[in-house]
Amino acid sequence: MLMEPALNPFAPGSGVKPPALVGRQQEIDAFDLLVARAKANAAGDRGILLTGLRGVGKTVLLNEFSEMARRNGWLVVQFEAQAGEGGAEAVRKKLARELQLGVRRLRQTPAWSHLREQGLGSISNISVSLGLQGLTADLKFAAGRADSRELDIDLEEMIEDVSVSMRKARAGFALVIDEMQDLDPGLLGALLTAQHAAGQRGWPFYIIGGGLPSLPGRLSESRSYAERLFHYRMIGKLDDKSAADALTVPIERLGAVLKGEPLQTVLSAAGGYAYFLQAYGRTLWEAASEKEITVGDAKLAVELGTADLDHGFFVARWQRATQAERRYLRAMSQDGEGPTATAELSGRLGKDHSSLTSQRARLIEKGIIFAPEHGLVQFTVPGMGAFITRQQD
Ligand SMILES: Nc1ncnc2c1ncn2[C@@H]1O[C@H](COP(=O)(O)OP(=O)(O)OP(=O)(O)O)[C@@H](O)[C@H]1O
Ligand SMILES: [Mg+2]
Repeated sequence: MLMEPALNPFAPGSGVKPPALVGRQQEIDAFDLLVARAKANAAGDRGILLTGLRGVGKTVLLNEFSEMARRNGWLVVQFEAQAGEGGAEAVRKKLARELQLGVRRLRQTPAWSHLREQGLGSISNISVSLGLQGLTADLKFAAGRADSRELDIDLEEMIEDVSVSMRKARAGFALVIDEMQDLDPGLLGALLTAQHAAGQRGWPFYIIGGGLPSLPGRLSESRSYAERLFHYRMIGKLDDKSAADALTVPIERLGAVLKGEPLQTVLSAAGGYAYFLQAYGRTLWEAASEKEITVGDAKLAVELGTADLDHGFFVARWQRATQAERRYLRAMSQDGEGPTATAELSGRLGKDHSSLTSQRARLIEKGIIFAPEHGLVQFTVPGMGAFITRQQD
């Protein structure tokens, strides 16, 4: 049977590899170049930061970069930052754990013998100060550095030792950090210092980060030179051709046909957002009754998909907000997807500016809004403004 539910290629979800990864060739090429330059032992490259709203495809792209780097023998250490109480401690442990797992994966590669001479000892030592046991006894290595218990110093020494070893193997060392806006100031500052040193001394060490559009601002607050350490890439809507491919490629691969008005109907509902394309793709497959998808199928799919998004993607955020915070969000939604000037909100809500700052702070902490610039607020999720307009309470 053709539209077998079990064959549905679409599965919207955080970081889930899409059935067709489209429209990100520029970013992939940029990373490819970084890998090629590391192979040639070229120096002076910058890390890459992907910024964008929720659901645009940052994590998927970071995963892609990690795979590319690993295929080329790199040490890749990937983790997600975590806000709130206990976040800093948990992230340090994750970093240590991923470092240890990462080097273990290199056992069969040319980098291993170099790491044994220089690198493994530092990783073992820094693991202890990051809150984890050192490398287990089955790994024998020369004594390392990175044991001062000062995060800045230890991180930099470990990164130096590891990246010098990786360079000998014509590969690199990547720290892939998702939700990077949530890194605690201590670790963030230490990492930026290390990236700075790496750039100056030609170590093939790169921070590859993903985060909300507020990320570049956070980095500049931490280190004034941060802007010069990275190539920033805004990840946004997919262009029309790519958005169409995101739907038609997986569908055609399975022998069905999607074109013309039915295709346009779904595309205009999704507005080029990666997550929405996957969500509508899934309902399109569910709604389709024959090999060639009809306008009727497409309209039904949009209805079902919008309901799914309302009950999942959007409502998860809406329910996290208190009544007062919802009034704040509703006042923002007058500007559609925004941004909104905070000064404007006091007028709309009949409250003075200072009484709104704590609501603003809590909504930022909950990840529902962010400050694209000083004095502005905006939803982290595309379509949130329209969703709020559809809500009764
Ligand atoms: N280039 C792409 N082409 C098609 N689909 C994509 C693409 N990138 C991501 N997607 C799909 O979009 C959805 C969201 O992707 P992802 O989780 O990477 O977004 P994100 O930007 O990391 O979101 P968040 O900020 O919520 O973490 C996933 O279902 C994924 O499969
Ligand atoms: Mg993500």
